[in-house]
Amino acid sequence: MSKIPIPLDEIRQSVSQCRSCPLVDGRTNVVFGEGSPNARVLIVGEAPGKNEDLQGRPFVGAAGKYLDELLGVAGLRREEVFIANVLKCRPPGNRDPRPEEIEACAPFLREQTRTINPEYIVTLGNFSTRFILKTDRGITGLHGQLHMAGRFKVFPVFHPAAALYDSKKREALENDFVTLGQLLKSETINGN
Ligand code: URA
Repeated sequence: MSKIPIPLDEIRQSVSQCRSCPLVDGRTNVVFGEGSPNARVLIVGEAPGKNEDLQGRPFVGAAGKYLDELLGVAGLRREEVFIANVLKCRPPGNRDPRPEEIEACAPFLREQTRTINPEYIVTLGNFSTRFILKTDRGITGLHGQLHMAGRFKVFPVFHPAAALYDSKKREALENDFVTLGQLLKSETINGN
């Protein structure tokens, strides 16, 4: 039997009170995520960076500006998707998330996903892809193809921050967002 989804505001409240891992000591703000609560597409990044920690909003720095452009390539606006991260607090110096931090934070993203109930989850980079697909495979072999995680269609892509200064990844990322746009459009037209 499926559980009743928890309202987003309740999840937000729990996130803001969370003290489950040591990242609480270095955070300025938690970054719950933002966007449409009825989004067809959930975007999942890795963890807040410096700007996100200061503003309490996801993807507001250079990678965020690029993400907005990529969404445009797929025919999406930032306000119509929901953008969240695996970790809700910034790791010091933007180091990689640790397994115990991911484990502590995991229930929040799981509940956000159940409540938003998107059709697509677009995972940005290795950490979110491995988390959502429960795989050890890397993003290089997984990006640009549709995968399933339970009832969700999962579309992994390179992380925009990794692509900013790597023209090969940038090309792949932009092509993948074109593909995403086509997937979204074809299924809207077919009414699926
Ligand atoms: N990188 C991420 O993975 N998430 C953010 O919110 C910002 C940068």
